[in-house]
Amino acid sequence: MELAKKNVGAYAADLVKPGMVFGLGSGTTVYWLVQELATRISQGLEITAVPTSEDTKRLAEQAGLKVIDLNEIERLELTIDGADEIDPRGQLIKGGGGALLQEKIVAAASKELIIIADSSKLVASLGKFPLPVEVIPFGYKQVEHQILDSGICNKINLRKKDGKTFVSDHHHYILDCECEKIVDAASLNISLHLIPGVVETGLFIDMANKALIGYEDGRIELINFK
Ligand code: 5RP
Repeated sequence: MELAKKNVGAYAADLVKPGMVFGLGSGTTVYWLVQELATRISQGLEITAVPTSEDTKRLAEQAGLKVIDLNEIERLELTIDGADEIDPRGQLIKGGGGALLQEKIVAAASKELIIIADSSKLVASLGKFPLPVEVIPFGYKQVEHQILDSGICNKINLRKKDGKTFVSDHHHYILDCECEKIVDAASLNISLHLIPGVVETGLFIDMANKALIGYEDGRIELINFK
């Protein structure tokens, strides 16, 4: 799927117009968007990004993009970001890279959220990809119990990286919740938010306006959600 990611990432560079301040997502598809933008910057394009993670901030700065903090602007016209699952209504699971909190804040500040992804991310219903839930480290096991007791999912894995507990950019832990099939993503999002200790969920409900999907044969499909 790497070629599909590369193609769709590069294609999405056309969405970023000269002088634009835009939200820049995280992940391996966004990486290719940044590479294409770097080429255009070397040819004179001037753009400014609000990054959705520390990794993206570093990547963007290396590529020559001007980077600013979300607090420096009123509102964004556009954010381009990746996703881990996309259902037919445009509901998403995000957070595979652990940046869901900042990604959701930036997306919420944007008039338009355009998702870039390879075709493997299209699903009939959400839930095969374990749902990331960002939690406060204090008492996180209580959050685990509450999620399991409520029957929301069958199994929870505290995310690890290189053998250690993964800590997000905002110093939280991530619980990867194996739900199998999410029937009502909007209600699940609300239920999870009601549990003390939950900071954010990887469910992006009614946030995506469009998705650009890359296929291995080079095709790119535009899907409109609203
Ligand atoms: C990170 C995310 C990413 O947007 C998502 O994981 C992107 O996937 P890919 O690397 O396949 O583009 O949600 O928290």
